[in-house]
Amino acid sequence: MGTPGKEPIVIIDDDKSICKTLKLHFERNGYDVTISHLAKEGIAALRALRSAIVILDIKLPDANGVELLKDIRTYGENYYSIIITAFPDMESTVKAVQNGVGEYIYKPIDIQELDDAVAKGNDFLLKVESRDIPYIPIPKLETAGNHFIGKSQIMKEVFKTVGLVSMSKTTVHITGESGTGKELIAKAIHHNSPDGNEPCVSVNCSAIVETLLESELFGHEKGAFTGAINRKEGKFSLARNGTIFLDEIGEMDINVQAKLLRVLQEREFEMVGGKEKLKANCRVISATNRDLKQMVKDGHFREDLFYRLNVVSIYLPPLRERKVDIPEFALYFTAKTCKEISKDIQYISQEAIDFLMEQSWTGNVRQLENVITNAVIMSRNNRLSKEDFTAILKPEEFVQPVESHSWQETDSQQALPHEGGNKPRSLQDVEKEQIRITLSYTKWHKGKACEILGITRPRLERKIHKYGLKPLKLYFEK
Ligand SMILES: Nc1ncnc2c1ncn2[C@@H]1O[C@H](COP(=O)(O)OP(=O)(O)OP(=O)(O)O)[C@@H](O)[C@H]1O
Ligand SMILES: [Mg+2]
Repeated sequence: MGTPGKEPIVIIDDDKSICKTLKLHFERNGYDVTISHLAKEGIAALRALRSAIVILDIKLPDANGVELLKDIRTYGENYYSIIITAFPDMESTVKAVQNGVGEYIYKPIDIQELDDAVAKGNDFLLKVESRDIPYIPIPKLETAGNHFIGKSQIMKEVFKTVGLVSMSKTTVHITGESGTGKELIAKAIHHNSPDGNEPCVSVNCSAIVETLLESELFGHEKGAFTGAINRKEGKFSLARNGTIFLDEIGEMDINVQAKLLRVLQEREFEMVGGKEKLKANCRVISATNRDLKQMVKDGHFREDLFYRLNVVSIYLPPLRERKVDIPEFALYFTAKTCKEISKDIQYISQEAIDFLMEQSWTGNVRQLENVITNAVIMSRNNRLSKEDFTAILKPEEFVQPVESHSWQETDSQQALPHEGGNKPRSLQDVEKEQIRITLSYTKWHKGKACEILGITRPRLERKIHKYGLKPLKLYFEK
């Protein structure tokens, strides 16, 4: 173990005697020292450390030290490199500086010079740590399987409803934008039901050709139509006493809607081409990201079916309306991906989390999960920083205006920042715009805006003052 206040040292040099001498020397001075004679091993040792001073030779059997510097720098600011070389030349010195070297020392080594360089590196790293944008530790995931994330008021209500409806066999309808977790909720209802160990069968109504959906749901007798070579059980039978999950129900053909209505009313159905009445004992959960009410008005969805499906309805709000949940999502998805790909990321910076909270996540939880998975895979460090995310989310994807008609109608000329749409903008502009949009969206309900933005009330007040934001009066208002 090293001494507190002394960063670990990693020495990468193929000269074994130099390594040995330096190890002894620095250990005597209280440093924790790892040596390796190959770049590959050295880098692995480095990556296992939260921060370190790297003493690096240029001519290594498996790499060039100057090139290696570039990689090390991308791992983060928490590594300080010192090159030691017997072959000084201007070109590699210049390159080393460009690649972020801390010090450049010629062999034979003047130990005083190296001591100074190490002390300088140590100071540098301690400073990096202390001024540190706070880092938050990533928890370890103990149990496998899906976890439910959500501390926001709105999600707590959802979880309560899930608890209540799972006790009975009520029909449930789940709505929400794409990626808000509808399928996950459907499965949770099923698993928490008394019949949770019966099958849960999903049917994606949009993925199946209209003509086949009916036989998919109810099955068909042999020879019922061309291609029906054998008798086939439908999903309603396969679900037995469990659950049938009708995903994207808004895409269901109007003829099949009529048949589904009958099943919900009479709890009976027939196979395509069959006469026998079969019992439907399963629970029905449906989901859609479309506005079914509107579809009913437009005559694309049966009103009676709509009410049959909506015995209990659960609405999953878009992620941008529950931004307080983002930190927990960030920790969870990082831990989950680490477990899946056996990677060890220990921290995420507060700054990174703030950045994630600023985004509008039009693809909701799914998009957030994808971005985090990507960042974890790409990370060359044991900690995730804001840069890991800005590299993935392209500038034009940053903070898009909230897509919701409610604010566009009432507040259009203020809320539409469209000239220059996707041009890179300063963070301040983006922040101002996001706050303005959120306030319009909540009709200046500041408490709600705070919850969406994930900031405190005093902070919101300061920002409103700073950016001179005011509620917009419409022209026709006096
Ligand atoms: N509250 C949550 N906690 C943990 N993970 C979640 C949560 N909500 C969503 N997810 C994850 O986000 C991803 C998208 O969720 P899901 O597939 O359920 O969305 P969906 O609403 O069905 O989307 P679509 O309408 O596009 O089918 C999944 O990987 C899911 O596990
Ligand atoms: Mg889905």
